[in-house]
Amino acid sequence: MLILGIESSCDETAAAVVKDGREVLSNIINTQIELHKKFGGVVPEVASRRHIETIDAVIDEALETANVTFEDIDAIAVTYGPGLVGALLVGVSAAKALAFALDKPLVPVHHIKGHIMANFVEHKTLKPPFVCLVASGGHSHIVSVESYTDFEIMGRTRDDAAGEAFDKIARVLGLGYPGGPLIDALAKEGNSEKVKFPRVRMDKDSLDFSFSGVKTAVINYLHKLEQNGEEYNKADIAASFQDAVTDVLCEHTIEAAKNKNSKIIALAGGVASNSALREKMTREAKKEGIEVIYPSPVLCTDNAVMIACAGYYGYKENNFADMTLNAVPSLNL
Ligand code: KG4
Ligand code: ZN
Repeated sequence: MLILGIESSCDETAAAVVKDGREVLSNIINTQIELHKKFGGVVPEVASRRHIETIDAVIDEALETANVTFEDIDAIAVTYGPGLVGALLVGVSAAKALAFALDKPLVPVHHIKGHIMANFVEHKTLKPPFVCLVASGGHSHIVSVESYTDFEIMGRTRDDAAGEAFDKIARVLGLGYPGGPLIDALAKEGNSEKVKFPRVRMDKDSLDFSFSGVKTAVINYLHKLEQNGEEYNKADIAASFQDAVTDVLCEHTIEAAKNKNSKIIALAGGVASNSALREKMTREAKKEGIEVIYPSPVLCTDNAVMIACAGYYGYKENNFADMTLNAVPSLNL
């Protein structure tokens, strides 16, 4: 079965063709990072306009690279939420137009479920159940993956997403956008024990996250140094901040896996490409006899392969949408 996946929820216009949910025939991503860099973050209206300009070419390229035609495609899968409404609407409209014109089924996909699915693409023998940490620019969730289509949220952020905190601190340090990869690289040269930033636990029994406190702590720390005219080493701050965030992500996720008796933890979302997170989670989980897996970085950040993969399992469950499908910016898991 060939699924054409379409993704446009934030600042990547992406299309992909995936065979039987796991074999990638093409993975085309047109990233808008350069466009938004000068604003220090994604500007929703600018993102929507660029999606409109590029989506047709991105879809054509996905088919060409996969060496297939529209007729060969069995269904069209599209992200319909959560995300930026104007951005989502471009992908949803394109997918609806194709489904209507080609008379093919349309499969609606939840963006976060898509992120989780990237793990199936790269780990061919992976089967539910397992626990997955989804950490990106917009979300931080601990999800129990019960089946290919059933998910239970075990913890979520009560304020900022992990990636959002990375982006904010990178901006404060004057590193640029997006901040995650820049902090990741700079932290390698720093001392993570230089400053002990807070590791927040909401309640004893809660696996929820809160990253606004650590973000404010870093900002206050830097302000104080600047007011006193003191010099600081950016790499030490980056490493200490990253250490605080990854400590919490690891602790809560491993606790979730232990609660579920799961021997596998999967990572997903843009922050899953963080080298310190991967290394720490692997090391700490191993002590509990838990294996940690993650997709390669290109499938961690937004892409359409993950959407086509989720679409495959949605298709098998007869989860189809009709022409009334709309973008849902704050779609629940
Ligand atoms: O999954 P994604 O592409 O988009 C959303 O769905 O939000 O994630 C983007 C986020 C950004 O906040 C970016 O800074 C973060 O993922 N990110 C990273 C790394 N690579 C991307 N954060 C930490 N370390 C990285 N290596
Ligand atoms: Zn995403």
